[in-house]
Amino acid sequence: MTRSSAKVRPASEEDLGAIVELHRACFPGFFLTDLGATFLTELYRGLHDLPSGVLVAAYDDRHRVLGYAGGSGEQQDFYRELLRRRGWKFALAALPAVARRPTIATRVARGRTRARRDDDTRAPGCLMSLGVDPKLQSRGVGRALVGAFEEELRHRGCAAYWLTTDESANDAANNFYTRLGFLRSRVVVTPEGRHLNEYTKSLSADGERP
Ligand SMILES: CC(C)(COP(=O)(O)OP(=O)(O)OC[C@H]1O[C@@H](n2cnc3c(N)ncnc32)[C@H](O)[C@@H]1OP(=O)(O)O)[C@@H](O)C(=O)NCCC(=O)NCCS
Repeated sequence: MTRSSAKVRPASEEDLGAIVELHRACFPGFFLTDLGATFLTELYRGLHDLPSGVLVAAYDDRHRVLGYAGGSGEQQDFYRELLRRRGWKFALAALPAVARRPTIATRVARGRTRARRDDDTRAPGCLMSLGVDPKLQSRGVGRALVGAFEEELRHRGCAAYWLTTDESANDAANNFYTRLGFLRSRVVVTPEGRHLNEYTKSLSADGERP
């Protein structure tokens, strides 16, 4: 498979729609995807707009979006700011999904509480979402996105970051993160019983764990 010559840079506002479409293609049936395109647009707009958010995208030479990486160098600040400034927009955006499946409301409420809670045991930064166009995977786009995301975190003085991904039936992502030098810090079990691998990566020059 040929390597991609994608260019990665901070995403622009006009690309939020393409990023949401890629999220939907990469994460079918996932909770955030089920909350709908309006909800996802609010989330990626937050990553794009807020000072604590980071959103980078990979582009081909015709400016098509091939993939994206979103997160924060100060994840707890990001969530607090997001809920303070845009909480009501998220609530409105989630309403249609809650009306279709009322049980979703419990998870939305739990997510809101989790977002407010500090977890001092974790690294300060977080990679919240990473996706590459399914037709263009395994060509180096994901590696380039993570590299650019880390550059953004370094500029902001972030020393380390973490992420979670499903432990089972998810070899592609787990191999990807291991290959890129992430260390598995623990397994987290969600209230729904999902087992997630939590990975951490240090950004300090000597590569020491935080
Ligand atoms: C996971 C994902 C982001 C990887 O992006 P990608 O562009 O396909 O990955 P790359 O081509 O940059 O691969 C980087 C390294 O990871 C390894 N890797 C990537 N996909 C792999 C796979 N399916 N199986 C084994 N190893 C894999 C490669 O060996 C590669 O190593 P190399 O650069 O030394 O050759 C992409 O497959 C994706 O979007 N998947 C769906 C969404 C998802 O799972 N996101 C992450 C979970 S939160």
